[in-house]
Amino acid sequence: MHPTLNIAIRAARTAGRILMRYSERIDQLTIETKSRNDFVSEVDRAAEAAIVQELRSKFPDHAILGEEGGQQGGRSTEFEWIIDPLDGTTNYLHGFPQFSISIAMKYRGQLEHGVVYDPLREELFTATRGRGAHLNDRRLRVTKRLTMEGALLGTGIPYREQGHIDAYLGMLKAMLVDSAGVRRPGSAALDFAYVAAGRLDGFWELGLAPWDFAAGALLVTEAGGTVTDLAGGDRFMDTGNVVAGNLKLHAVMLERIRPFLGPALRF
Ligand code: IPD
Ligand code: CA
Ligand code: CA
Repeated sequence: MHPTLNIAIRAARTAGRILMRYSERIDQLTIETKSRNDFVSEVDRAAEAAIVQELRSKFPDHAILGEEGGQQGGRSTEFEWIIDPLDGTTNYLHGFPQFSISIAMKYRGQLEHGVVYDPLREELFTATRGRGAHLNDRRLRVTKRLTMEGALLGTGIPYREQGHIDAYLGMLKAMLVDSAGVRRPGSAALDFAYVAAGRLDGFWELGLAPWDFAAGALLVTEAGGTVTDLAGGDRFMDTGNVVAGNLKLHAVMLERIRPFLGPALRF
């Protein structure tokens, strides 16, 4: 295993212990509202601080972007870490058991390492560019499903920004017609990991932030899948509009999405 990935794993496990410890007293947590339906708790902050501390002690020069603390690392223009210390905060705060920690590293703008950790199930999803994706020690592959028939899809239903809700609902309906169903688990990082693991055949969501899926996108591509924006292009890291899946089903998903792409959703 690559030594840098090992350090990311250690940081993710440390954050996992923090999430598990606080989960026993959710009702006593201090929670702030960042914007409508967007919450941050002392857990998000404590987990991020622990991850940043571990990364900084090993890589003092590396740039770090965390959801809660923004830019908080060194000045490197080559190495950048992208962290979501708790992906699925809404679930976590409700005691709904689906959340994760996401840590990615980019080298010269390209995703190099990714870790998504589910501390409840102790599932550790990892990927290094060119070396494949793994769940614990098992190598991951996306599914081979060719058509919507029988496909299980994941998504994220907009709950903060409602600007594209009609377009989104059109897409949802188009995906429901002949698939096996659509799931909305509530942690985008894990949704991508599940596509990599073949638990979901495909996934799409609008308006994600880079920390939600930087690690997940590498997991999917290293498991043989593909990730694009809504029009099949490569601007998903900027727009946060993403479609992921195996190559064939991904193409089918893009076809279903196309009729709902107004000018603001073409990327
Ligand atoms: C959220 C989760 C959710 C997705 C949202 C994200 P957070 O992250 O990934 O599944 O639908 O768009 O913001 O706020 O819980 O870290
Ligand atoms: Ca997130
Ligand atoms: Ca978060």
